[in-house]
Amino acid sequence: MHDWWKEAVVYEIYCKSFCDSDGDGIGDLAGIRSKLPMLRELGINCIWLAPIYRSPQVDNGYDVADYRDIQPEYGTLSDLKALVDAAHSMGIRIIMDMVLNHTSDRHPWFRQAKSSRDNPYRSYYIWHDPKPDGSQPNNWGNYFKEGDGSAWTFDEATGQYYFHQYSRHMPDLNWEYAPLRREIYEMLHWWLDFGIDGFRLDVISRLKKTPGFPDSPQKADPITDKNGFVADRAMCTDVPGIHDFIRELNEEVFAPRGCFTVGEGAGIHASNALPYIAPERRELNSVYHFDLSSRTRLNMPIDHFRKIQRQWAEVMARGGWAVQYLSNHDSARQVSCYGSEGYRTRSAKLLGTLIHTTPGIPFLYQGEEIGMTNVRFDSIEDYDCCYTLGDYDTLVKNGVDPQKALETVIPRSRDNARTPYPWSGGENGGFTTGKPWMKLNPSYPEINLEADRASDDSVFAFYQKLIALRKTHPAILQGDLEFYVDSHPQLLVYTRSCDEETLLVVANLSDEPAELPLPCVLRTARWQEVLSNCGHTNLGSPLLPWEAAIFRKH
Ligand code: GLC
Repeated sequence: MHDWWKEAVVYEIYCKSFCDSDGDGIGDLAGIRSKLPMLRELGINCIWLAPIYRSPQVDNGYDVADYRDIQPEYGTLSDLKALVDAAHSMGIRIIMDMVLNHTSDRHPWFRQAKSSRDNPYRSYYIWHDPKPDGSQPNNWGNYFKEGDGSAWTFDEATGQYYFHQYSRHMPDLNWEYAPLRREIYEMLHWWLDFGIDGFRLDVISRLKKTPGFPDSPQKADPITDKNGFVADRAMCTDVPGIHDFIRELNEEVFAPRGCFTVGEGAGIHASNALPYIAPERRELNSVYHFDLSSRTRLNMPIDHFRKIQRQWAEVMARGGWAVQYLSNHDSARQVSCYGSEGYRTRSAKLLGTLIHTTPGIPFLYQGEEIGMTNVRFDSIEDYDCCYTLGDYDTLVKNGVDPQKALETVIPRSRDNARTPYPWSGGENGGFTTGKPWMKLNPSYPEINLEADRASDDSVFAFYQKLIALRKTHPAILQGDLEFYVDSHPQLLVYTRSCDEETLLVVANLSDEPAELPLPCVLRTARWQEVLSNCGHTNLGSPLLPWEAAIFRKH
């Protein structure tokens, strides 16, 4: 079967903040449908829908209370069907974000499980007895640093603790229990029958926990860890045995249905990716790794970029398939982290150039196509993200001055990416006619889609060109990757070459101009410009700050 996803450009939509069609201040499915023409014009051919299932919204939908229903503010299953059908008619596929590591504590399975020790659903979750002194089963902490910081919550009624890597409202599922796994497979088939095209599998590398639940050997950080509980990722990430679960998922669902799968790959790097994605392993098509960008990475040394790209090119040479992205709903905005707000549009285009010309599937996040930047709210009250609130709370409880704590959490807050989409400079950025669930980025009068598209310097128009290049330049899809001027602190220079053609990419990732010391083999070739973010780029002159261009060999 043709692997359509190898040629995909995926666009992630965070429904809550995308477009509100009914004035309740919350984005919805009809809003997304109304914007499909814009996405088609952009040129993307696959949408990743962040979770839209029924949920109490403790973590904006990653706490699922019903896998087969839609959060009422977002619409209904019929609205989703209408969206899927409309997208398909435009040649756009849709993959669902599928959260299989945990559910909401309001999910009927958990309600049942909690009702008594011998309820048939008890084993769907992870329950442990207290230690003889009554304390929690081990020293593990939750990633959100919620509550007392522990990954265990005691259930008075049944006298046991349940385990949660994230919020206490998001209990982990017990993947060791076959009836749970079977129930999950049925549900996934149900979604494929519904007409979706694949899954982005949330924290898939964390389904397997270290057997026996031993104490983590890691020492608690006195400032950032609460009460000595350690959120040690190693205890639940890429633990031996994880592949058995993924292989069974593949056998039972992915392979028979031929759907696209991208696993969120915390703890998966180029060094351990192949067991997950090599085709002969029959597990996943690709992993969404964090080697380049993550919630906490606030800059990107240029040599790191080269190193990671080389490592993943190696993975691809051995049959795996990489992804390319620099931001998502969990990260800060890429222009603010890896580009330059002073050269906003130019650096937005440069970063776009990088993710569209390095090997693998580009995953865009809503707003990057107009060069959105981070937000700064003056009060913690305006923030919503669990990590942000948990980090802030922990710092303040440990004696850090509240203003200083706020300054610390602002740059890495996930809310940087979650402010409502600014469609225009009008009221509420055209996102809603009501009161937006989260404040817009105050930059919206200048940074919005309408203004961007009307500008000669449009980031959107540049992204359109980048996306279109994939269709006409085979080297972008299949070409080998080679870096030049390797130790240069400002410049990225690389080629992509296949039998048909060679492309050259040059980029200056700095606020200063840079001489372009092309090696002889590149200097003596004849190059034809394909695209430049400065109108025109001369390979014989220094590159301007944040200048980037693509050339094709004559
Ligand atoms: C993933 C999601 C993130 C969520 C977490 C728990 O990392 O991307 O938004 O908070 O999983 O489901």
